[in-house]
Formats: sequence, C-alpha cells, structure tokens
Amino acid sequence: MSLHANPLAPTPGVLDDLEAIRILDRSGMLDLTEAFPQQCRDAAAIASSFVSQLPPAAKPTQVVITGLGGSAIGGDLTASLAAASADVPIVVNRDYDLPGFVGPQTLVIASSYSGNTEETLSAYRHAREAGCRIVCVTSGGELARMAEADGAPVCRIPRGRPPRASTGYLLIPTLAVVASCVALDADSGPEALGAAIELLTDCSRRWGRHVPLADNPAKQIALALHGRIPIFYGTQGYRGVLAVRWKGQFNENAKSHAFANVLPEQNHNEILGWDQARTQAQNWSVVFLRDPLELTATPRIAKRVEVLRTVIGNKADQHEVWAEGTTLMQRLLSLMYLGDFASVYAAFLNGVDPTAIAGIDLLKSELARMEG
Ligand code: PA5
Repeated sequence: MSLHANPLAPTPGVLDDLEAIRILDRSGMLDLTEAFPQQCRDAAAIASSFVSQLPPAAKPTQVVITGLGGSAIGGDLTASLAAASADVPIVVNRDYDLPGFVGPQTLVIASSYSGNTEETLSAYRHAREAGCRIVCVTSGGELARMAEADGAPVCRIPRGRPPRASTGYLLIPTLAVVASCVALDADSGPEALGAAIELLTDCSRRWGRHVPLADNPAKQIALALHGRIPIFYGTQGYRGVLAVRWKGQFNENAKSHAFANVLPEQNHNEILGWDQARTQAQNWSVVFLRDPLELTATPRIAKRVEVLRTVIGNKADQHEVWAEGTTLMQRLLSLMYLGDFASVYAAFLNGVDPTAIAGIDLLKSELARMEG
C-alpha cells in the first residue's frame, strides 16, 4: 500500500487512544468488527443446520437474492463467489419489484436483517405471487412473520446488531442455500470458509485497536483518506462489489461521501472525468482494490491499473490495498475486512459514532408514517 499522511488530519492520535475510542464508539462497532471471524464461525453453524433441514427441491433455473443496503451485500458477495462456477444466473435485486423473468423455477432468497425493510417485503410478496420458491434470511420482523405463515423456510440470525456488521450472518446462510442447489468451486463454496476464517482471525489481530497506527494498515488507510473524498476502484470481478462495500462502509460508518467504480468499465467512460479534475480533485483520494493474482492471471487488468494511475497522475492521492490469501473466499473476505476496519477508524477521525445512522432512520420512520 502506498500511503501519504494527510496534512488535514487533525487528530491521528485518536486511533491509538483506547479511551477516546470507547467514548466515540458508543454502540461497539469496533467490537463487532474485531469479532467478525467468530461471527462467521457462528454463521457457518447456523447455515449448516438450516440447510440440512430444507425440504428437497428441484434445481432452480435462476436465483434472485433480494435485499437492500447492508442486507444486499451478502447477495453481492454470494454472486461474486459463485460467478465462475454457477451454471444458473444469480441476480441481486435491490428494489420493490422483482425482474419479470421470475416464476416457479426461480429460487428467491429474501434477505433483510430487520425483516422490516419495505422494499424487501414488497419483493417477497412479488415472489409469492409469481409462485417462486422462497427462502428468507432475517433476524425476525414482518418478513419472518409472513414467511412462517406461508410455510417458507426462514433462517433466523441473531438480532440486535447493525445489518452492515452482520455480514457473516447474511452472507454465509445465503451462500449455503445457493450451494445446496447450485455447484460452486471448492475455493468459493462453504467448504472454503474454515481457511478464510483462520485468515480473518489473523487479520483481526493485525488490524484491531491494540495495534498502533505505525504498524496498522487499516488505521493508516483511514488516516490517509481523512478529510478527503475517497474514490474506490475495484480492479475487476469481486473487487467491484467490494469497492461498493468500501463506499457503503465509509458512508455509513464514517458519515463520509465516497464513490466507487470497477475496471474495466471505468476505462470506457469515467477515465475521461480525470481530464477536468485538476482543480476538483485536490481533496479526492483514489484507492485501488487489488488482487495479487491480477499480476499473473489477468495482466491486461494490471496494465489497465498502471495506465489509469498515470492518467490520474498527481491530480489526486492514490493508494492500493491488496487482498490476502489463496482461495477466492480468503481474498474476497480479507479485502472486505480491511475496508470494514478502515471505515470504523475513519469514523473516529471524524469524531463520530460509527453505528449511528440518523438519516436512514429518519427516512424509514417518515415512510412508515406515510399511507399507501
Ligand atoms: O446498514 C443499514 O442499516 C442499512 O443499509 C440497512 O441494511 C438497509 O436499510 C436495509 O435494512 P435491513 O438490513 O434491516 O433489511
């Protein structure tokens, strides 16, 4: 990772000040982040018991995973993990309605941490009307109530956390349900979880609060981005999904604007935006989300990064963060996890509680009061 300390950063000391972190992190987002490997272990146990009780079902012709925000990311990650091996399309849906192609041969996985997200409840009803096979992943709410009344299987996950800090609970059962009816490669299916959790445990030790800024890449990237608008560029495939995850985590945890795009598509339009960016971009920082395999397996992607970095030049700060591990599961989860930590540290640098989401809460309560 190339890092330049940002001169705008007023209080980098907060990142190593455990008392300041305790005061800012009122609802324990950093505790949840540090405990993510254990969450994945729990989620694997919940998922395997749930899947073992699913009634036998015919292979679907499509899988649609429907959810929003923190509850959609499990679908994105599942679709990325399955992309190379799945022999049926896996589509992630973030809307009130489902695509027109859904029908009795479609498996719809409705994912809502709270079980009360109106778009997901609407999509669930759509799936029911279309005669789809439905499975729900939720901690309860109206979704669990409707599904249980309809006899649709519900994978109940523990309640009481922010959805974005429940990615293990949302991803692993979703992946297990997909793997129960669609063949996945060994390095991306549920059997790859054990080695990935070992790597995440090691990452948690290296990126947690007790490792000082000087030795902690998650704190370093948060500091480098402080006071700037981050632009996350995923270099292809799953890194595109993770660019959106890093963006969402900086939005929700750090309350910071952020943008995301993916190569090679970025090279066909957004690259030209850099022409006019000489003055606009003074406060932007570009973060490339990379996979070491690019250098050997996809040298044309590596070349694209090299050329894009030259086009951006000194118009904006540039950084690179790299996936770790050998399996796809390890590389995907480690690169996601670094962004989760970095966004929480970015919240502390901004002096905000990473858990609070006042704008989202306001929007949901106003819509709940609205008729129709
Ligand atoms: O992080 C969040 O709180 C949001 O992005 C939610 O995940 C989103 O609003 C959907 O809610 P739920 O996850 O409860 O379905």
